[in-house]
Amino acid sequence: MATLTAADLSHDRDFARSLDAQDELASFRARFTLPLRRPDDIYFVGSSLGPMPLAARALVNEELDDWAGLGVAGHLGARRPWFSYHEQLRGPLARLVGAREHEVVAMNSLTANLHFLMTTFYRPSGRRTKLLIEKGAFPSDTYAVMSHVAARGLDANAEVVEIAPRAGEWTLREEDIERTIAELGDTLALALLPGVQYRTGQALDIARLTRAVHAVGARCGWDLAHAAGNLALSLHDSNADFAAWCSYKYLNSGPGAVAGAFIHERHVRDTTLPRHAGWWGNDPKTRFRMEDRFVPTQHADAWSLSNPPILAVAPLIASLAEFDAAGMARLRAKSALMTALLEFRLRDLRGLEIITPASGAARGAQLSLLIAKDAHARYEAFKAAGLACDYRESGRGVAGEGIVRLAPAPLFNTFDEVWRAAEIVRTALRG
Ligand SMILES: Cc1ncc(COP(=O)(O)O)c(C=O)c1O
Repeated sequence: MATLTAADLSHDRDFARSLDAQDELASFRARFTLPLRRPDDIYFVGSSLGPMPLAARALVNEELDDWAGLGVAGHLGARRPWFSYHEQLRGPLARLVGAREHEVVAMNSLTANLHFLMTTFYRPSGRRTKLLIEKGAFPSDTYAVMSHVAARGLDANAEVVEIAPRAGEWTLREEDIERTIAELGDTLALALLPGVQYRTGQALDIARLTRAVHAVGARCGWDLAHAAGNLALSLHDSNADFAAWCSYKYLNSGPGAVAGAFIHERHVRDTTLPRHAGWWGNDPKTRFRMEDRFVPTQHADAWSLSNPPILAVAPLIASLAEFDAAGMARLRAKSALMTALLEFRLRDLRGLEIITPASGAARGAQLSLLIAKDAHARYEAFKAAGLACDYRESGRGVAGEGIVRLAPAPLFNTFDEVWRAAEIVRTALRG
């Protein structure tokens, strides 16, 4: 993909078409079934539920056929034996998030993984009891954190600290997060931060903030629901203690798909860590001896409990194969250009404020449009015109105000769709 600067961008439709003509990832679109009512509709909501990779159906059918034909013998005899089925994901997952293979595992759902990982990494003791999250975090994270702290017998209202943007601002300043971490000092036990904030689309610097948390002796975990498959991550090098993400958004692995988790290798090697244990976390060499003593495998698998749901994991294998073939670096380069073009086409519109950071490094694919008046009706107008997007309350309680999120995805969207989506927004806001 050509390297372009803001000065090269153009409102001309032929400019968008010329980017499509040069796009070396263009052929990936045909590898998905896009849920379009009309051929010209635009699916910019892969950040909520990604479309189905064509290969998913074939892989699920393969497992149904093996189950029908082999029964229990499929554990070892299926084309992809179920005993080691999840191991196929290690390479693709590690490449996806910039980790080593023994640092990643596909298991459970995102919120469940946050709970499991907090069991290990939120270890309140003495003065060190506080848990830091962002104000307005995705509600499931807030519920998880509050209930988790309460389950330890602590007062969640006293122990959970929320960091908010400055008055009148939408996004967090990293220096403010660092200052809060420093102020909490030796009272901070864990920070749980978003790789990309779901409402604003702001991307945080994982390495920088992890460093700040470690400087006060605390642990740092990341919710990567909106970052996995969106940003080119380097989780191992960032030194994050742990991370978790879902697979149904940018990862296109189906509704409620099996989620992912990262645990840094320095913890993976530590078999003394407290955790919820199940037989699938036991060393596979001794798992079937059926002994009473749990021997955690020195792998992120040590946090998994159960034999994996094969039919649910199959679409993840199909989807991660597409990410592997495209490569996160190329996807990210295309994504940054798509979002820059979308921003360029929308930034002068009256009645609309783009609250996502303007800088490419501080955001992923998503742009969040704050619409001041009749926001929900505008959103309905965008959809009626064929632009699939989603709507979130602004969280400020201002009547008529709302946020529309648009996320062009580099695996299956085109630059011409970016051009046309902007045209739909411009027309609907004028009307
Ligand atoms: C940022 C974030 N965290 C957590 C969740 C909850 O995910 P799950 O229902 O997979 O646990 C979501 C879901 O959209 C999310 O966007």
